[in-house]
Amino acid sequence: MPVEKNNLPPLKSKTELKNCREFIDKKEPLVDRENRKTVGQQIVENPRMTCRNVNVYYGDKQAINDVTLDIGRNEVIAMIGPSGCGKSTFLRCLNRMNDTIDFCRINGTILLDGKNIYDKDVDVVPLRAQVGMVFQKPNPFPKSIYENVAYGPKIHGFVQNRTETDEIVETSLKKAGLWEEVKDRLNQPGTSLSGGQQQRLCIARTIAVGPEVILMDEPCSALDPIATARIEDLIDELRENFSIAIVTHSMQQASRVSQRTAYFHLGDLIEVGRTDQVFLNPLHQLTEDYVTGRFG
Ligand SMILES: Nc1ncnc2c1ncn2[C@@H]1O[C@H](COP(=O)(O)OP(=O)(O)OP(=O)(O)O)[C@@H](O)[C@H]1O
Ligand SMILES: [Mg+2]
Repeated sequence: MPVEKNNLPPLKSKTELKNCREFIDKKEPLVDRENRKTVGQQIVENPRMTCRNVNVYYGDKQAINDVTLDIGRNEVIAMIGPSGCGKSTFLRCLNRMNDTIDFCRINGTILLDGKNIYDKDVDVVPLRAQVGMVFQKPNPFPKSIYENVAYGPKIHGFVQNRTETDEIVETSLKKAGLWEEVKDRLNQPGTSLSGGQQQRLCIARTIAVGPEVILMDEPCSALDPIATARIEDLIDELRENFSIAIVTHSMQQASRVSQRTAYFHLGDLIEVGRTDQVFLNPLHQLTEDYVTGRFG
């Protein structure tokens, strides 16, 4: 858009310019490596999920240390950090997937729309529909493409007849950007699709049960660059309707898809903030070490 001459901001005075210069030059020193208190923007206004002082143990070994973090509405938050730092463990807390591991213990508070998901009266089956998960390796059921998507809505009782099921299958496949490629082969096995298509099928399956949050644990690591680009575009579109937490080893991917980034290190949430800030202007020395490739 052309800028009208009259709308240009007035030229800055010499003193103002000098103050700007001093502000730019005065970069705060980074938080020390030994300091493990989270820095940055952990809390957001009107969050979808709220995590407070979350600790996770596998037997005697603590894997997550006192993590406090919100997941906003319509945001993609990326979780990054070196292998073994607890990204998957933390992600799995958000839909109680860690419940399936006998010796795993969790304490702290995790709320979804204000309700504690660890309360005794919470049924994990509908919870895992509300907070869906997409895994590293596409894992379609050994069923047709149609049935892969229809299965969830059927078991949750969201559909009463074939017309309703057809409709939900079509809408979900459209939202997952797969409809055009599969509409003429809905009865073929899900496993007959390419890896990237299978991953979009798994996303369609997650969408079909009406989630509020979608958790993705390295969803592109088994895919080629073209399939990856399609999933990344899709993640951006899905943000309109869902909150997305994505674990990724690729900093490029985190900066392409997310608005906020959380950096984990040995079970600690070290820093969280706007993605561009975390990558370009980190506040913590450990984050800088990681994003500049000095560590991990
Ligand atoms: N089922 C389990 N039983 C025991 N220890 C576990 C289990 N899963 C994870 N851990 C331990 O918890 C810590 C965090 O693991 P986690 O898988 O969450 O890391 P991650 O950041 O996802 O790593 P990666 O990038 O390699 O996937 C590690 O020390 C790991 O060995
Ligand atoms: Mg992992």
